[in-house]
Amino acid sequence: MAAGPEPVHWLGKETLRVSAALFAENRRRLCQGLRAKAVGTKSVVLLQGGEQKQRYCTDTDVLFRQESFFHWAFGVTEPDCFGAIDVDTGKSILFVPKLPESYATWMGDIYPKEHFKARYAVEEVEYTPDIADVLSRLNPAVLLTLRGLNTDSGSICRESSFEGISRFQVNNTALHPVIVECRLLKTDMELEVLRYTNKISSEAHKMVMKHVRPGQKEYEMESLFQHYCYTRGGIRHTSYTCICGTGTNSSILHYGHAGAPNDKTIQDGDMCLFDMGGEYHCYTSDITCSFPANGKFTADQRGIYEAVLKSSRAVLAAIKPGVKWTDMHRLADRVHLEELLKIGILKGTVEDMMKVHLGSVFMPHGLGHLLGIDVHDVGGYPEGVERIDEPGLRSLRMGRPVQERMVLTVEPGIYFINHLLDEALANPTQCCFIHSHVLARFRGFGGVRIEDDIAVTADGVELLTCVPRTVEEVEAFMAEPQKDFSPVVGGEML
Ligand code: GLY
Ligand code: MN
Ligand code: MN
Repeated sequence: MAAGPEPVHWLGKETLRVSAALFAENRRRLCQGLRAKAVGTKSVVLLQGGEQKQRYCTDTDVLFRQESFFHWAFGVTEPDCFGAIDVDTGKSILFVPKLPESYATWMGDIYPKEHFKARYAVEEVEYTPDIADVLSRLNPAVLLTLRGLNTDSGSICRESSFEGISRFQVNNTALHPVIVECRLLKTDMELEVLRYTNKISSEAHKMVMKHVRPGQKEYEMESLFQHYCYTRGGIRHTSYTCICGTGTNSSILHYGHAGAPNDKTIQDGDMCLFDMGGEYHCYTSDITCSFPANGKFTADQRGIYEAVLKSSRAVLAAIKPGVKWTDMHRLADRVHLEELLKIGILKGTVEDMMKVHLGSVFMPHGLGHLLGIDVHDVGGYPEGVERIDEPGLRSLRMGRPVQERMVLTVEPGIYFINHLLDEALANPTQCCFIHSHVLARFRGFGGVRIEDDIAVTADGVELLTCVPRTVEEVEAFMAEPQKDFSPVVGGEML
């Protein structure tokens, strides 16, 4: 990040310095986008930040993470704030809570407005109880609040509300599509943070690969990953719940949740599928490494792994601005089917298999998704872009053509999921392509996913993830001595 004023986020040591200029640039782009949409003069954007929540009915705070749209526009770490942006002038006002004196006893210093003004490089700081009065002085023709659909969750984002909002003319439809389009394409400063989260998370994956041993618990690997990210990278949050599936668990797409909490003992001969990513100042990463727990691929493990690697590499070579993401998904399916045919699990022609969506039996999820302040970042299906309602493709989180400055995951996988295999074998249009006696050998295998994060450039991609990928690289890496990968510098922790 360019030298200049104090960074808005920096955790010392080698951690990345993030400048408040990143968020000033985001606000500038937002105003430009809104003016281009002719929202009318004297429009003022009003965003509400995330609220500090407690665990159920207790007084135990849940560790706060900022709401993503608010973070994108203001880069503010604290909860319970609002932010206003005058679209004509670009002037920004941050509203911070007026904290009670007891805060100083329990939580620490109560900072004056000047502290926030300097830290967040906004033009003005006011207290939240004064929002209505401060905004009245701006005399806006319209307040632009944020309301719109998250196309991954199906949820509507929460619109700003404050005491006295009824005094204003409010438009809650104009802002969402514009801010989503701004978040879709990453600035140079945003790319720098995303490179950093990918670098630290890649190193953390490598450290885990070095230390995995049959006999350990899956959660030990989750813990190592998080420890490395925080100690070495100042990364406190993961972008999503860590998925540390081994053996059959590696075919459970979102394993690791409270009902299946990475608690199996890793066995000799297991495949590991570790899908973990750290986030720094809310910029996420999403990386999956698949490898044998004992460091040596069996012939079947190599066959499936190399099939997935082939599709990953084919897609990475094909991505450039203008290509359809749905075509990339189909390309991955096609390569998987060709390779499963060579392995002997399938028979017939790939063309015919594609017609009956056989690829989705082995890869039921989408090829990849946008990545940014949310791990499944916004903008995959803007107004006018419809999901293709076909097996596999209906799970694709982005339906639009690829554009320069998008950041995406490429995460093909082949999984042996019993209920999907049973369904395919019971389906006359699909079972005719399956050698069931060969398939039987792969029941219990689990799955392989190879997930990389990329930034789209003018003529291709920049690979942000850096981990061993070929079978030879993985085996050589896992066989090397471990000492350089202790999560504590110079320490003997492990
Ligand atoms: N970790 C969830 C995903 O890969 O999308
Ligand atoms: Mn992903
Ligand atoms: Mn993932």
